[in-house]
Amino acid sequence: MPVLFTVDEVLAATQGRAQELAGTSIGSISIDSRELGPDALFVAIQGDRLDGHDFVAQALDNGAAAALVSRGEGPRRILVGDALEGLRDLARAARARSRALIVGVTGSVGKTTTKEAIRTVFEAAAETHASIKSFNNHWGVPLMLARMPVSAQFGVFEMGMSGPDEIRPLAQLVRPHIAVITTVAAAHLEAFGSLEGIARAKAEIFAGIEPGGTAVLNGDHPQLGVLLEQARADGISNIVTYGEARGVDWQILEIQTAADKSFATIEHNGERHALVLNVPGRHMVANATAALAVAHLAGVAMDVALRALAGFGLQAGRGQRRLLGPVEKPLLLIDESYNANTASMRAALEVFAAQSAPDGRKVVVLGDMLELGPQSAELHASLRDAVMEAGVERLYLVGPAMTALAAAMGRERVTAHTQTAAEMAPILRNDLAYGDAVMVKGSNGVGLSSIVGQIAKRFERT
Ligand SMILES: Nc1ncnc2c1ncn2[C@@H]1O[C@H](COP(=O)(O)OP(=O)(O)OP(=O)(O)O)[C@@H](O)[C@H]1O
Ligand SMILES: [Mg+2]
Repeated sequence: MPVLFTVDEVLAATQGRAQELAGTSIGSISIDSRELGPDALFVAIQGDRLDGHDFVAQALDNGAAAALVSRGEGPRRILVGDALEGLRDLARAARARSRALIVGVTGSVGKTTTKEAIRTVFEAAAETHASIKSFNNHWGVPLMLARMPVSAQFGVFEMGMSGPDEIRPLAQLVRPHIAVITTVAAAHLEAFGSLEGIARAKAEIFAGIEPGGTAVLNGDHPQLGVLLEQARADGISNIVTYGEARGVDWQILEIQTAADKSFATIEHNGERHALVLNVPGRHMVANATAALAVAHLAGVAMDVALRALAGFGLQAGRGQRRLLGPVEKPLLLIDESYNANTASMRAALEVFAAQSAPDGRKVVVLGDMLELGPQSAELHASLRDAVMEAGVERLYLVGPAMTALAAAMGRERVTAHTQTAAEMAPILRNDLAYGDAVMVKGSNGVGLSSIVGQIAKRFERT
């Protein structure tokens, strides 16, 4: 497991005192005793309802390497004045040592979507660390920052707020080279009194921008003027705008959205780019355009960014693709676990036929197609040719109906066949390796999503 911090580094960063921890290294950081990564440092945070200190013993029992606490001494505890401040210290340390290009994202809506679009683009270019979910508040941001590995070349962080003076300290922690404001709209209006008040609060992100950094601003809201004025007041000379409004730097033209796709032309510096997204909606085009602008600033080639965005937005279970583990030799996981019938099985296998493994074998995990009636066996057997043509090197089958396909394939071509997903999961955890391309597809009722979850957990970098 890669080391995130040595204990000495944790002690130096937090000014903490430790017992019985000599030589320990920290591989991950968690504030939830039920979700501990390898060699975890458990940080005991005082929340609104729960106090992490009540879970320190449990976390250490569950395998945490150490706990960062505000009170209570004992083995493997690192005592600091305040554990949340200690987490911020670790965040500052992770930021200070990092050579990554850092992007901060805030705005009234679209933060997570835009953060994920930027992550998608960066991941296509180099090792990327990004906030998970919407971890964007006073503990979420330091937690995400503290988890940034020293090897990351890009970092993307979401910052949220429910009142004034919340974004500023987060931005000063993250110190982005590029700050994105997705939009200004009437959310949390009560706390601000006016849209202008909301705009000023979003503009607090400028206070954290690194010298020479850039503000990337959506231009399709009436508060743009307030943001521009504030950026100038904060001495930010590099400002890039995007949107449908005339005169922005990244101009969205000719949007078309279909049931499950969107298309647009994006014009920048007189050049036109064809943007294709796997999700519908003008707002998705706007979020993706922010990602294009960021990609350009970060030196990611436009064709790489556009290709990455074409695969963006596929949801879990419906063709979502993930690269897990080391960038040099990742495991490609294609999650089709939500749905299967003969048409979608054939389509997915056809797509997989054109897919090469990053640096290993092509692996397919197929689960029963449910609700096919009396023709079920015949239809399952009929997938044989599609499997053959997909160039599958290892075939794993799950469910009783797959007996028909197993017979059609012949024993030697079936690596393993189990009746349930629960039986298959440990076999795959054991057999798969970095470099493999794995597609998992079956009807939702077969429960292959649990297999996908276990593969992701086993192979992702924490
Ligand atoms: N640019 C946008 N403009 C308007 N609506 C959007 C935009 N982007 C996303 N949305 C819609 O807003 C909802 C929330 O999107 P998203 O999760 O990206 O926002 P968020 O700012 O991260 O929210 P939160 O504050 O809950 O973290 C989604 O339903 C999405 O369809
Ligand atoms: Mg969010």
